[in-house]
Amino acid sequence: MYYSENKIGEIEVICGPMFAGKTEELIRRTRRMEYAKKKYLIFKANIDNRYSTGEVVSHNKSKIKAIPIDINKPEDIEKYVTDDISALVIDEVQFFDKSIIKLLTKYANQGLRIICAGLDLDFKGEPFGIMPELLALAEHVTKLTAICMVCGEEATRTQRIIDGKPAKASSETIMVGAKESYEARCRKCHEVVND
Ligand code: TMP
Ligand code: MG
Ligand code: ZN
Repeated sequence: MYYSENKIGEIEVICGPMFAGKTEELIRRTRRMEYAKKKYLIFKANIDNRYSTGEVVSHNKSKIKAIPIDINKPEDIEKYVTDDISALVIDEVQFFDKSIIKLLTKYANQGLRIICAGLDLDFKGEPFGIMPELLALAEHVTKLTAICMVCGEEATRTQRIIDGKPAKASSETIMVGAKESYEARCRKCHEVVND
């Protein structure tokens, strides 16, 4: 976003609920680097195989090539970074092990632009994994919203739906899915069933 030639690195985070356009925004920023002839690498969590494994794909089907990385081994990113790379782009960053924070901080300190997209909140409406720390460390945070599928207001949360009903709070945090199991909702319409 504010990338400059004097190589002061930075971390940018694009967050918000599902269907807010996080991946679209990530792809938009990537295209701008393309025009600026900056070299970059795009990574994604290897568990996100919803639309494709070798690509980052938005719900609107925009796509761009990406390297799948094991969420428990963010250090694999290091294998791909060469001296000519000026930016690292990571989608679904919320899934990664907390060691990714140190790694991204190291590269930002070295002058790289780090652009991440991820869910700030899980289906319970609670901060998702590493996101609080990443958001605190970031120079720039873009919080996107979607439209509530119930009332049409601004949606800041993601509703998980299992068999047509709100998911129970005890259900596992990670469950890859799209429209069949998730909806964008506002604070008022978001439901969590405690059990
Ligand atoms: P998206 O932000 O690109 O729409 O993708 C979010 C992914 O995260 C999607 O595969 C569903 C998954 N997910 C979870 O694993 N746990 C959750 O609590 C939520 C809300 C989403
Ligand atoms: Mg996405
Ligand atoms: Zn609503």
